[in-house]
Formats: sequence, structure tokens, C-alpha cells
Amino acid sequence: MRVLVLTGAGVSAESGIPTFRGKDGYWRNLDPAKLATPEAFARDPQLVWDWYRERRQRIRNARPNAAHEAVARLAQRTDEFLLVTQNVDDLHARAGISAQRMVRIHGNIFVTRCSRCDFSEEGRGGSPEPPDVPAVQPQNKRLRSIATTSERDLNVPTCPECDALLRPGVVWFGEHLSRNKLERVEDFLDGGACDVVIVAGTTATFGYIIDWALRGSRDGAQLIEVNPEETPLSQFATRLVREPAAIALPRIVDDLVGAR
Ligand code: OAD
Repeated sequence: MRVLVLTGAGVSAESGIPTFRGKDGYWRNLDPAKLATPEAFARDPQLVWDWYRERRQRIRNARPNAAHEAVARLAQRTDEFLLVTQNVDDLHARAGISAQRMVRIHGNIFVTRCSRCDFSEEGRGGSPEPPDVPAVQPQNKRLRSIATTSERDLNVPTCPECDALLRPGVVWFGEHLSRNKLERVEDFLDGGACDVVIVAGTTATFGYIIDWALRGSRDGAQLIEVNPEETPLSQFATRLVREPAAIALPRIVDDLVGAR
């Protein structure tokens, strides 16, 4: 069996990771879809780092749910399989999918890279995490404003190679996708028609997600959408499953590969 799975934030929702566009996605009353942009980082790098730091912490404390586990089981039981996830968390990987069977098209939240040079490093510790703001505030007003400035600088890590600002190693809205990752998806799509394409937990906002789902399901493959809500892809699906991914995916995978 040849299977393509495309996932988005909804798959991690039941692990406690807020989605981007859902009502629970808002952070400090800010729209996450507007924070995940180069413009937001240029305007206020500390605000963006604060958001990523909190998300890293939340992801470290989260566990893969039944949806991640079902996708991992499907990957193990199929001859030809590719997962393309838009999620920057590591929950699919922690559920047991190997790097060869997964493309993390929007990057990895635990990578930190330079905004100018090629420096990049990865670690679940998130190093270099911006240090915490000191709790003690100077009493003198002038000193306080100086301290506030340096605290703000401290909270935005800089590159050990070139001193430019470091940023999370994720793809932001409006940025190019990695050529290497695009090639892996294209190679899989060129490798033959799929039997099944599953699209789970994504609003399918990006044209390439719809394009890959449709190309994967050409020649009569099943196109299954798992999402409690309608999306632009729903009209093309051969099967709509309006349920949370952690409930629907284990059942769908059982149907496809058996409950063994
Ligand atoms: P969104 O937040 O846009 O969409 C989440 C989707 O999951 C919605 O369609 C929900 O209806 C659905 N959903 C919510 N709970 C669910 C559940 N328990 N089971 C199944 N589905 C559920 O997230 P994405 O589509 O992943 O990109 O967003 C795509 C990209 O937009 C993100 O990767 C990010 C953002 O801008 C970048 O940062 C480049």
C-alpha cells in the first residue's frame, strides 16, 4: 500500500498544543498567525521569542496522543509511506516515525538558527534559550529604564558566530520552503499514485497542501479528511470524518492495516 498523510495543528490539539487559527490559539490576546512572521520578528523579536519559548516549554511537557500513534502505526505497516506535517512540534517523531518517512515542511521548533549567517543548532533543551528576566527591579527610574533595555537584549539570543539575532528554525508565513524538503515530497508524488491520502487537522490554508493532497489522490485514491470543521479541501475529499483526530485516526488506521 502507498500512503500519503498530511497533518496540521489539529493533530496536536489533544496533546494540549493550541492550534494557530482556533479560538484557543490566541496567546496574550495576540493572533499566532501574525506572530509567526518575519515582520513580527523584525518589529519585536523579544515578543516572538517569548511566544516560542512558551511553546517550546508546552511541547516539552506534552505527549503524543492517539492520533500521532495511529499515524506512526500506519507508517510501520505500509510499504511506501510519507508523512508531511506542518507542525513544528516533535510529537510525530516521539510517536515513533522515522525521519526517512516524515517531512517537517515548516521546520522544527527546537532548532535555533541565525537570522543572518548559516549558524544553526538543535536541542530539546532549546539552547540557547533566552535567560529569564531578573526578578529585582532597580528603584531609580533612570536605572530602571537602562535595566529594562538590557533585559530586553538579554532575552533575545545572538549568534555566537556573527552576533546577529538568533531566531527559531521554523518557516514563517511568507518565507520559502526548504528546497530539499520540497524535493522529497515531489519525489514521493512522482513515485506513483497513492492508494490512500489522509489529511488531518489542518485548515489547508496553503495552496501546496491542497495541491499535494490532490496530486497524491489522482487516479482514484481515497482522499480522507479528518477535521471537525469544513476546509477548502473538504469539497475534494472522498470521505469526510468530522471528528477529533485522536478519535478518528486510530479507527481509520485499523480499517486500513488491521488492528494487529
Ligand atoms: P490551523 O490552526 O490553521 O488549523 C487547525 C485545524 O485543525 C482547523 O481546521 C481545526 O478545525 C482543526 N482541528 C482542531 N482540533 C482538531 C482535532 N482535535 N482533530 C482534528 N482537527 C482539529 O493549523 P494548520 O492548518 O496546521 O505555518 O496551520 C497551518 C500553518 O499555518 C502552520 O503550520 C503555521 C501557520 O501559519 C507557519 O507558521 C508557516
